Amino acid sequence: MHKLFIGISKLWGVAESAGMVKYGLAMQAVDCLEHAWIWVHNGSIYKVGIMSDLSESTQSALQNRITSTAHDIAGKFVFNDDFQGFEFSMLVCLGNKEVMPGFVDSHTHIVFAEPRTEEFKLRIQGAGYEAIAAAGGGILNSARKLQGMSFDFLLTEAKKRLHWMVAHGTTTVEIKSGYGLTVESELMMLRVIAALKAEFPGIIRSTFLGAHAFPLEYKGREEDYVQLIIDTMLPAVVQENLADHVDVFCDRGFFSAEQTGRILTAAKSYGLPGKIHANELGITGGVQVAVANNAWSADHLEYLGEQEIAEFAKSVSAEGGETVPVALPGCSYFLGIPYANTRALIKAGLPVALATDFNPGSSPVCSLQMVWSLACTQQKMLPSEAFNAITCNAARALRLEKNVGSIAPGMDANFITTSTLNALDTIPYFFGKNHIEDVFIRGNRFN
Ligand code: NIG
Ligand code: FE
Repeated sequence: MHKLFIGISKLWGVAESAGMVKYGLAMQAVDCLEHAWIWVHNGSIYKVGIMSDLSESTQSALQNRITSTAHDIAGKFVFNDDFQGFEFSMLVCLGNKEVMPGFVDSHTHIVFAEPRTEEFKLRIQGAGYEAIAAAGGGILNSARKLQGMSFDFLLTEAKKRLHWMVAHGTTTVEIKSGYGLTVESELMMLRVIAALKAEFPGIIRSTFLGAHAFPLEYKGREEDYVQLIIDTMLPAVVQENLADHVDVFCDRGFFSAEQTGRILTAAKSYGLPGKIHANELGITGGVQVAVANNAWSADHLEYLGEQEIAEFAKSVSAEGGETVPVALPGCSYFLGIPYANTRALIKAGLPVALATDFNPGSSPVCSLQMVWSLACTQQKMLPSEAFNAITCNAARALRLEKNVGSIAPGMDANFITTSTLNALDTIPYFFGKNHIEDVFIRGNRFN
């Protein structure tokens, strides 16, 4: 089916061809077309252009259809020799709005049982995140809650959160397990993600995070849990084809760099790339082990030394590509911990990405618009840099940059509309407001 999208006052995030990634200071540039159109064929972008490319008669025929309210017009539309004489079966007027690629959230934990508001209140009163975790709360609290829940309940709740994310402009999502911590519960979480994948029109990628925390019953024999992950969980996950990547929480009080390396090596033997949690609580070798294992990303990075930045920079020339540094400012905001030094990472020429880390413990935020704003105000990223970090570079963190994250022929027709003027700067400026009006995934409006 051929559809023509018109009524686009500005089209942000345009690329010459599929697969754009922005490294270092190139992140400051965002290409924009004014008075644009997008030709979509079977859910993919076929061609992009501007009104003044078209003959005058076609321009005025299309102009007659453009109003300030978005609407669809079904029919048969041929515009002389324009559009190679093709017949469109639908015109979609986007309401003369600013349009950009759907956001890509490369790091979430949206399958969970309940919020952890009791810990939220304890932390407000002075308790620390690590102290709560060490006392059996935190991730273990979420695991206890999840283990008592049914598949159907978890699916319903996760779907609700996924829809919050989409309403805020996200059209591609990575989702992790990691609140199961037993073979059966980890598999159940991954099956919930598989069910979301099956019905969501956009791309969802799933990550096995059995190595999220050591269950209490493994206290003093943590090695046994690492072996359970490698010998039992991972083969079961692979057997059911439930994961696209493997994650490890490599940090102080959690998994060591050495344990992380063994888990990533085992994952590689099944062809599964790593995407790890590193340096949220301290500098513990997470970046080094990620780069050594060609992980696709290392996420968090609230603590970062020069050596870590040099490691990331070294990875840019690695076979299979770099380990993308992913900052999660929602976590820094919510826990009151440092923000990742993304300025230094950009200076080192890296393709920095940003994600929500949407989870019940450290970052209960569904909105990449909020993350965009935090990155500007707290990490001193320019609005354009942070935009690239939630679109094309976030896609790169999932190795999906040829499918999503920019507007170019061959890419999925995922885009969002906003009536906010000069949206690239004003979305992060007017923080806290949802600026998104319509969301299109593979060329269809998502309701
Ligand atoms: O990315 N840091 C590890 N995992 C999650 C949070 C886990 C939790 O507190 O539930 C994160 O912050
Ligand atoms: Fe996380």
